Amino acid sequence: MSHPKTVAIVMDGNRRWAKKNNLPTASGHRKGMETLIDIVKTAKNNSIKRLVVYAFSTENWNRENFEVNALMNLINFGVDVKLEEIKANGVKLTFIGDIENMPKKAKEAISKCIDETKGLNELDLTIALNYGSIWDMVNAANIINDSGQKITQKNFIQNTQLGELDIDIFIRTGGDMRLSNFLLPNIGYSELFFTEKLWPEFNSEDFQEILKEFEVRIRRFGK
Ligand code: FPP
Repeated sequence: MSHPKTVAIVMDGNRRWAKKNNLPTASGHRKGMETLIDIVKTAKNNSIKRLVVYAFSTENWNRENFEVNALMNLINFGVDVKLEEIKANGVKLTFIGDIENMPKKAKEAISKCIDETKGLNELDLTIALNYGSIWDMVNAANIINDSGQKITQKNFIQNTQLGELDIDIFIRTGGDMRLSNFLLPNIGYSELFFTEKLWPEFNSEDFQEILKEFEVRIRRFGK
């Protein structure tokens, strides 16, 4: 079994964690951000090259206004309080999703993250914002259409947000066993891991357990 290089995570359970601890929803998302930093460091120490996390889906706009605002503010807050730590760890930040249609302030924060980390190469942390797989695939099809080419398997996958990247490990916290429209073009042969732990409770040991279990899974890729 080869060592995993790419990991995708659906960081689910922030609101339930907040409720369980009698805290406001925004505190759950803030704690979720702390967890993300811990997992990024663990990923780097375990030679993972790319981590792709679902921070905001195309469906999340349907949440209450106050929560959408809290999540948008978290992007700016995250830059203020965490960007230096991310840089100190050599992490390059990239973003996927319909970033063009994000609020102006969030777009400014995103540009700052990209600019300030573009030269770093210990680990690539890709944050999915305003992302949905159906949007991703339609977007890829439109790019090819606009170029006047015929769609092929190769040019289609190349024009999706992650291109030809295959995800080795797909993790979802929070107890639900579903994919929620995340990275469908890239997870055809991923190993799936579901844990009951809510994202703010998920820790470095839990992540390392998954990496260990991956090593013993046999992947045949349809052969
Ligand atoms: C899912 O939990 C989590 C989200 C929709 C937001 C994820 C955001 C973070 C972990 C913080 C990191 C933020 C950035 C910008 C990198 P949920 O709210 O669906 O919780 P529930 O399943 O308990 O309802």
